[in-house]
Formats: sequence, structure tokens, C-alpha cells
Amino acid sequence: MRGMVATGLGCVLLLGGLWAAPASASTGRSQQTVQDGPLQVAGQRVARPDEPLVTARHGMVVTAQHRATEVGVSILKQGGNAVDAAVAVGYALAVVDPCCGNIGGGGFMTLHLANGRNVFLDFREKAPLAARPNMMQNADGKVVPGRSTRTYLGVGVPGTVMGLNEALAKYGTLSLAQVMAPAIKLAEDGFTLVPGDVRLLDTSTRYFAQHPNVAAIFLDHGRPWQPGQVLRQPELARTLQLIAKGGTKAFYEGPIAAAIVKASQANHGLLTLADFKAYTAPWERPVECHYHGYTIVSAPPPSSGGTTICETLQILEPLPLGRWGFHSARSAHYFLEAERRAFADRNTYLGDPAFVRNPVARLLSAEHAAELRASIQPGRATPSAQVQGSLGPYQATNTTHYSIVDARGNAVAVTYTVNGFFGIKQIAGDTGFFLNNEMDDFTSKPGVPNQFGLVEGQANRIEPGKRPLSSMSPTVVLRGGELFMVTGSPGGSSIISTTMESILNVIEYGMGLKQAIDAPRIHIQWYPDTVFAEPGAFTPTVAAALRTMGYKLTPVNHLGDVSAILVSPQTHRLESVNDPRYPAGAAAGY
Ligand code: GLY
Repeated sequence: MRGMVATGLGCVLLLGGLWAAPASASTGRSQQTVQDGPLQVAGQRVARPDEPLVTARHGMVVTAQHRATEVGVSILKQGGNAVDAAVAVGYALAVVDPCCGNIGGGGFMTLHLANGRNVFLDFREKAPLAARPNMMQNADGKVVPGRSTRTYLGVGVPGTVMGLNEALAKYGTLSLAQVMAPAIKLAEDGFTLVPGDVRLLDTSTRYFAQHPNVAAIFLDHGRPWQPGQVLRQPELARTLQLIAKGGTKAFYEGPIAAAIVKASQANHGLLTLADFKAYTAPWERPVECHYHGYTIVSAPPPSSGGTTICETLQILEPLPLGRWGFHSARSAHYFLEAERRAFADRNTYLGDPAFVRNPVARLLSAEHAAELRASIQPGRATPSAQVQGSLGPYQATNTTHYSIVDARGNAVAVTYTVNGFFGIKQIAGDTGFFLNNEMDDFTSKPGVPNQFGLVEGQANRIEPGKRPLSSMSPTVVLRGGELFMVTGSPGGSSIISTTMESILNVIEYGMGLKQAIDAPRIHIQWYPDTVFAEPGAFTPTVAAALRTMGYKLTPVNHLGDVSAILVSPQTHRLESVNDPRYPAGAAAGY
């Protein structure tokens, strides 16, 4: 299992070097004020590029790529609302953040509307209609390494285009052509690569070289692109133009679907035109729960994110974490044990609600939280082998997140993904965009870890037309019904911990937003039975205490990339900050 885990968190480890990269030169930030200083953790200084806190009165956009942030702000400034900006940013990230921003993948959007309503849009990929539970296994029943991650069998029917267009049609105010124009221009004219962009491209250089149509775009005459060079994507520009003119149909019933199906069939994939025709992006009710007077609004199944965050928080709520202190041995112990138990439930019970009954109400009941809380032994880690899905027997990064708030009070949180960096790292014909490997988010075989090391069960087995279970957690936090925070992160299974820590750091540990984002992170997911910890996450004394309690600690350079916006309780202004773990990103407002 260890080998699988190392692969599983490979994206995390690979990205560790991002911390060493300088902050991007041109980020279009406005009204910046630096508040909290660099983070000190009990005498240890965490070395990362220092990112300024950004404040704004009217609107704010924070994304993992500064050119996409500029696009969002320009849409807000020209009178668009947060949904217009979110759709424009979604298309722009497909150009300037090709590892993760996408039109070849899928995702989720959580919205808190100015009228007080909370809504959720599911544009997660679906398995092809010809998919079967054991399709990632060989004749001996063994999972074939790489089949779900680097071949066309790993590709789910993409949902991003339908999702973005549906959000615009329902809640936007501008035309599709207006919100797509900046993305088309970025693809046509190109954009200057900053070190953070190049670090992401470098994760996959050797794969780009294997496919001439990918190498022609993402390598410079066979060599990696360098900072300062301009990356132009004319093929993607043409694809985006087709969508801007022809709308959703151009993708799902027109030449784009045809090109993907042709490439899939030529490469032993399963996708057909019927898969694209059958695709839907439904509106759903978000998961909601309460924590110390705040309302957490987040992603319901087929994401596990909102449910797992809420389950963990409800186990923790009566405990004085704030008094015990951020990442003290005691607060870390209870956080980790609560999360271990919530992940055991996640991995055992949750799946696409169109296929399985998700016991969300039971998992989020006060009785269940009390039972799990009582099972935590003070001062002792519970081995994961002793933690089971707790409702009884049951058959059972990478990604990007952005947050936007507009002057009218609409808040949009979007997490979308092609799963692993650059998905299957292949492009269908001359479409110009990477296809997802979201099929790896299904259970290839019960008990066998996926690329994030997640060990899942039958609820998430592959079935025709089913959506794979996700950890993506676009989240809105309200206080007294008013917007307080918008947050979320990439990072596979660690999305859940990262998003939750961003919230706890503010409302439990009293950190300012910059400190909350800079603070080192931890993550546990039931299996593997270990705590992933960023540098400086624990003082040596706390690390020793946790080891004595029975925890294994696995250092990782990097967990997640929070793009959050806070409504300052003091000034009522919007605050945001780029997560220094992704220096190509930016927060900007006006
Ligand atoms: N592809 C990662 C997730 O959805 O959890």
C-alpha cells in the first residue's frame, strides 16, 4: 500500500518545490494591505513566498492563476455578477491553468445568492454507459496500474461546459460570448508564463513528449517552456469559439464530442456520442450544518466533501479546540481522530446519489457525532484497523478552486478538476484541451487504493452513467445568515482537511485570513493509517507527543491551495490572499 500512497500523494510531493518559486511578477492586485506577518509556529519560521492580504470594498476574486483572477475582476467591474465572473474565470483557467482548470473535466459550484438562498450545481463527470465495475482490473482480477489514470478508460464524460453554461443561463446577466471572450483572447494571443505556471507544466513534461499533438502545444520544440515565454493555444481558442457560438450543444452534440469519441475509440476507450447526449448537470441542495453559530454550506454527494467536513466538525464542536491551541497535541489528536472516523464513513457509505442511498442525515445526526466522539480515547491514537464505517456492515491535486464575491452579495465557490494534473495527459485530436482521469475516483476494486491512497467500497463502484465520489468541497460559511467566508481547495482527498482547517483556523483559533491560509496543514483519511503533515505543522514536542500516542507522521511539502474570501468582522470589507503554495495565483478586488 505504501507504494500506492506515494503515488497517490505524488501531486502533493511534486508540488513541494512551488514554495521555492518567487511570487508572480504581475498579478493585477489592487488595494493591497499587508496585515499578519509571516507565520511563526512555536519558533519555527515557515519559508514561503510572502503574499499580501488584499482588501476590497465591492468585489473580490481569488484563483490559482493571476490572469484568471484579472478576468474575474474585469467582469465584475463591467457590471457582471459573481456568477458571470465565475463562468468567465472557469473558461479562463482552462487556458492559463491547464493542469487543473479545464473544459475536459468536471466539478461543483456552491452559491450563496444575494437573496439568501443557497444552491449547488453538480457538473461532475459521469462514467460512460459501457463502463463496468471491474473495467480497471485484468482477467485475474488485479487492478491494472495506470489504466484509470493514463488511458482513455480513465476518462469520464466531461461536465464543465454544461455546468458553466447552466450556471450562466440561470443566474448570470451577461452573454456566453461576453464571458468567454477573455478566455478566447488568452488562448489566441497567449500569456506570459510565470515560474509557478512552469512548475506545474514541469510535473508532466515526460508525458507531453509521448503525444505529438500535446507536445506541439505544451513543449517548446520538444523542450519545457520557460518563465517569460508566451504560451499560445490556437487549437483551444478554436474550441472555445465553437462553444461561445454554439453553446452547450457545440460541445455535447457537435464536433467537440465527435473529436473526443473518435480519439477514445482509436485508443480503446468507451466513450460514445450517446454518453455526451445523456450528460446532465443538475441543481441540488447543498449540505448544511452548524458549528458554533456559523452555518457551513458545502458539497453534497456525489461529493463527500460537505458531508465529511460537517461530520468531523460536529464531532469536534463541544471540544475547546481554541483553548487547547492550534495544532497542540490535544487539539491535533481530536481533529485527527474525528477526521479518521468521518473518512471511514465516507469511504464506506458514500457514492453517487443516483445509484446509492447516502445516509447523510444519519452521518450528520447529533447522536452519531456523540457516539464517535465517545469512541476517541484521550491521549491515544485509534489504529485505523479498529475503525470501521460506523453504521454497521455495508457492502460496500488535480484540481483547482476559486472563490468570488460581488458587490450585490452573491458568493460563488467553484472547485473543478481533470483529477490528476493534466488528467490522462492526452488531448483528443486538435481540440486543444486535456481530458480528465476522473474514473480513478471510482473504486477500481474494493480495498485497493486509488491515486489518492483512498480505500473505498461498493458504494463507489463503477457503474454505467454513474458519477465518481469526489472530495471537492466548494464551501460558503454564513454567520447569522450573512456571508462570512467562501473557501475551498484542490488536493484530492486532502481537500476535505484543507478546507476544514481554513475554516477552523479563522473561527476556532482566531487567525486572520492570511495567517489561516499560511498556517501549515495536516491530513488523515483513515487509510493509509498515517498523518500527512506539512513542514512546521507540529513543534518537535507536539510531534513527539503524537508519536507517543501512536500516530505515524508522514511529512509532505504541500497540502492544498486555499482560495478563500473573508468578510472582515472588523471592517466588513472583503479580504483575500493568494495561498503561497501556488505562487502563480492571485487575489484581487476593487
Ligand atoms: N478528483 C478529486 C476529487 O474529486 O476528489
